[in-house]
Amino acid sequence: MVENREQWSSKIGFIFAAAGSAIGLGNIWRFPYVAGQNGGAAFVLLYLFFIILIGLPYMMAEFALGRKTQKNPIGAIESIKPKSAWKAVGFLGVITGLAILSFYGVIAGWTFGYIFNMAFGNSMVFEEFIANPLIVILLFAFFMLITTLIVHGGISSGIEKWSKILMPLLLVLLFGLVIYANTLEGSSAGLSFYLNPDFSKITASVVISALGQAFFSLSLGMGLMVTYGSYLSKKEDILTSTLYIGLFDTLIAIMSGLIIFPALFSMGGNVSEGPELIFMVFPKLFAQIPGGFAIGSIFFVLLSIAALTSTISLLEVPVSYMVDEKKKERKKIVWGAAFLAFLIGLPSALSQGSVNMFTEFGVVPTAFCDPDFLSHISFLFGDISLTVGAFFLSIFVGWVWGANKAADEISEGSKIFNKIRGIWIFMIKYFIPIVIFLFLLNTLGIYDLF
Ligand code: PHE
Repeated sequence: MVENREQWSSKIGFIFAAAGSAIGLGNIWRFPYVAGQNGGAAFVLLYLFFIILIGLPYMMAEFALGRKTQKNPIGAIESIKPKSAWKAVGFLGVITGLAILSFYGVIAGWTFGYIFNMAFGNSMVFEEFIANPLIVILLFAFFMLITTLIVHGGISSGIEKWSKILMPLLLVLLFGLVIYANTLEGSSAGLSFYLNPDFSKITASVVISALGQAFFSLSLGMGLMVTYGSYLSKKEDILTSTLYIGLFDTLIAIMSGLIIFPALFSMGGNVSEGPELIFMVFPKLFAQIPGGFAIGSIFFVLLSIAALTSTISLLEVPVSYMVDEKKKERKKIVWGAAFLAFLIGLPSALSQGSVNMFTEFGVVPTAFCDPDFLSHISFLFGDISLTVGAFFLSIFVGWVWGANKAADEISEGSKIFNKIRGIWIFMIKYFIPIVIFLFLLNTLGIYDLF
């Protein structure tokens, strides 16, 4: 019922919830390792380019669609274009949400485990830890349980209050670490790897990874921000909210790289380490600082909370769909969806050395992703599926709903938007879908852009 739909109590509440979804493991864990695997600075530059020219204008489209229709993505599509095949895009979003939650929960479990590892003076060997099926699955299950209980109890707003205090703390801690890491001997080579672009390193896989990472990091391409926009009141300014969220999100990712690469180069290590990267580098860094293990433990607490505000939002996607559209009882759906994501996540949990079949899964060529199952799900759903989803949703907003109607929705509550209205319409109708389309074809190897 539209009239009774809950709304965010304040603008800041909305921004924090959407930023809470955006900021997470994607910024601190995924961004540096993907940047490392894709050659460093050239990737970073492409990433920034995609955030500004594609991610942010596209995010406004998702918010507008949600606020206009007051629905989850599938319901939103249905109310604009009833009984059409466009609904499939919404379904893709729901499936993508479950798939991302499945591997994200595994990494969140590692993060949680590292709170204790740090408290006990980094006594674990990382490779042994992630190859231990029992521990990894228990931590994963625990993290999923906490997510489920929070979504089930409808107490996400409580978490938002906490994250309002804790996320700025994370920012301060990261800032301190940026300074520290860059004073280490040999760190400047890392800084140059990270900031000095070598354009010859740009290949099809670098481009698609940067584009995918831009969507992943901003939680875009699966309609999640449609759902969040549906709780937004007409008074709020979609343009400035989007800019704040984009700014925080990008800042945290960039800072994570400013710590990891200088530290890595000073300690010696492999830039294309993969998902292990931050779990290798951060503990070693903390070990060098006096009292560092306590700081390290706090760091992993904050990172776990950042992950939690993202897993909550991921679980909300299938849940709000089943509740709004299928009129199912919310509590049952919450448990059901979380359990499903847990089952899908088991092969990922077991793919880091414990079960050979999943560790050496190797279906996608290694130029695009590592052979383990987790990297496959992360690439296929975290990069490709979000990119495909954003392609279709931008066409849906730009052409089916109509860019002008969408722009009217955005300008309600945003006066400054009218100054860039024409540019935005051009971006959503032409630039975004065409650029995504070309890069997707390029990835499939249909032709060679580079
Ligand atoms: N944006 C989140 C992060 O960076 C991950 C995420 C992706 C969350 C897609 C929701 C949807 O950690």
